[in-house]
Amino acid sequence: MTRTETTTVVPPATPELPRSLRHIVLTGFMGAGKSTVGRLLAARLGWSFLDLDHHLESRAGLSVPEIFARHGELHFRRLESTALASALGQPHTVLALGGGTPEFLTNRLLLEQTPGTVTVFLDAPFPTLFDRCVLQEISRPVLADPAAAQLRFAERHPIYRRLAKHTIDTSAIEAIETVEAILLALAPR
Ligand code: S3P
Repeated sequence: MTRTETTTVVPPATPELPRSLRHIVLTGFMGAGKSTVGRLLAARLGWSFLDLDHHLESRAGLSVPEIFARHGELHFRRLESTALASALGQPHTVLALGGGTPEFLTNRLLLEQTPGTVTVFLDAPFPTLFDRCVLQEISRPVLADPAAAQLRFAERHPIYRRLAKHTIDTSAIEAIETVEAILLALAPR
């Protein structure tokens, strides 16, 4: 007699979030996984996903490296702030910031003062982030000088921590596990 095994597939429970929540903002250095995790998180919640760099690029009609090369970093930062203000106008959105977005006070104030906005910091040590970026083959002007990038990381790290309500250590977990860790952190108690 043969035995048949029945496997029951249990769909993941619909995540519970505070009712007033309108934006989940992911912050962290380049390579933290903001875009990958953000896309998965938005899909899990049935929310929209917005990558701030892509939003900025479509508004400017230029890629991030083109903006840096033609107009310089300062101009990029101005575009980034206006793109952030526009992104925060959209409800029920998971927003992946650029690695440098929280460096600027205007941006931090926007994030802190927009009702229903929670910021989550995806953390990992610099060497891990750097290796991930090398593998991704995305052109990132700020990584052109690795020593300068490490300095930026050291300067930004306390800023990410202060801005975020939750910090998730992503150094040893996959993107999908990071999504679950975020949902757990955000669940109403
Ligand atoms: C930057 C990070 C990039 C992009 C730009 C500048 C930075 O975004 O905004 O190249 O200053 O750290 P990602 O963190 O999505 O790579």
